[in-house]
Amino acid sequence: MNILVTGGAGYIGSHTLIELYNAGHTAVVVDNLSNSNPEGLRRVAQIIGIQEVPFYNVDIRDRKALEQVFANNKFDACIHFAGLKAVGESVEKPWEYYENNISGTLTLVDVMRRNGCKNIIFSSSATVYGDPVEIPITEQCPKGQCTNPYGWTKSMLEQVLADIQKADPEWNVVLLRYFNPVGAHPSGRIGENPNGIPNNLMPYITQVAVGKRPELGVFGNDYPTPDGTGVRDFIHVCDLATGHVCALKAIERRCGLDIYNLGTGHGYSVLDMVHAFEKVNGVKVPYSIKPRRAGDIATCYSNPAKAEKELGWKARYGIDEMVRDSWNWQRQNPDGF
Ligand code: NAD
Ligand code: UFG
Repeated sequence: MNILVTGGAGYIGSHTLIELYNAGHTAVVVDNLSNSNPEGLRRVAQIIGIQEVPFYNVDIRDRKALEQVFANNKFDACIHFAGLKAVGESVEKPWEYYENNISGTLTLVDVMRRNGCKNIIFSSSATVYGDPVEIPITEQCPKGQCTNPYGWTKSMLEQVLADIQKADPEWNVVLLRYFNPVGAHPSGRIGENPNGIPNNLMPYITQVAVGKRPELGVFGNDYPTPDGTGVRDFIHVCDLATGHVCALKAIERRCGLDIYNLGTGHGYSVLDMVHAFEKVNGVKVPYSIKPRRAGDIATCYSNPAKAEKELGWKARYGIDEMVRDSWNWQRQNPDGF
């Protein structure tokens, strides 16, 4: 298939491009580079062994430019990663988050349908479950209250896409709810490249390990978890990437609307991650305990059985590979791209 990959220059998108090509698909990237660097796409092309990844420096809110992309290409489906994703920033700048993520997706979907492409895979998040009423979380678990505008954009866009599919059954919509992506391509050539101070645990750990930050703050050790620190379903980004390739199978069998958790099904605590990182990589990660971070929940991990049963997808990498590959990327690229 020929796939439009919005946000393909970003962290998850760039890893997914590799798996798409490995599976025999082709891809065209649309990205405005607001949170990414074209060097990432150059390295993706090297890893795949092609001259270059077709790329348009286009904002998905720019209808005219998007129309031109569709005039130049024929797409079988879109994998839609483009969006702003910083939880804290979304609290400071809600208008910017709603405008970028919601308006952008509405424009994209309209241009898609006008051009006869009605197949979309959407990057959603475990954040839509709020404080989940069941653990491990299945797709049947009701959606909950999000604690920030970023989360609401995901929850709202799931509803938007479901309603569009309901009104026009020619659409195939796959909502992928990611748990906590970490790791990097085993080559160490591409990886997560956050701007400024990282919000997420793994890039913070790697920046401490490489000496860019003095210590990790562990946000709370009084949660009702085995060691008191937060528990998450960390998933290797390459596993997440293959999840998108498998999700194309749902589109091929004309799924209508489908929802899948992409997680490993295992919960690891913040301190489990720190200790695994130190042991596997032989580097120290100094840390101190800080107060809880507002909006955090104690425990969040998936039941990924539906994706395995229906898509034949299962995470292959464990915690050791996650911490190894995160470090391999950071060590080779201490300042990112
Ligand atoms: P990322 O920021 O690395 O990638 C997103 C890409 O979208 C960036 O390259 C950015 O430049 C681009 N972009 C943003 N707004 C755009 C616009 N209006 N037009 C064109 N391009 C635009 O983020 P990521 O970690 O790769 O996440 C990809 C998707 O997965 C996002 O939708 C994110 O919300 C979602 N997600 C991420 C996580 C996570 O922890 N990384 C978890 C759950 C869901
Ligand atoms: N944590 C720390 N110190 C840090 C950063 C994080 O102790 O410096 C802790 C958090 O308190 C939490 C755990 O590490 O217990 C994971 O935190 P992250 O910020 O890495 O991830 P979250 O689970 O908060 O959220 C992430 C993404 C969201 C996405 C969600 C999906 O940021 O966008 O996973 O489950 F929605």
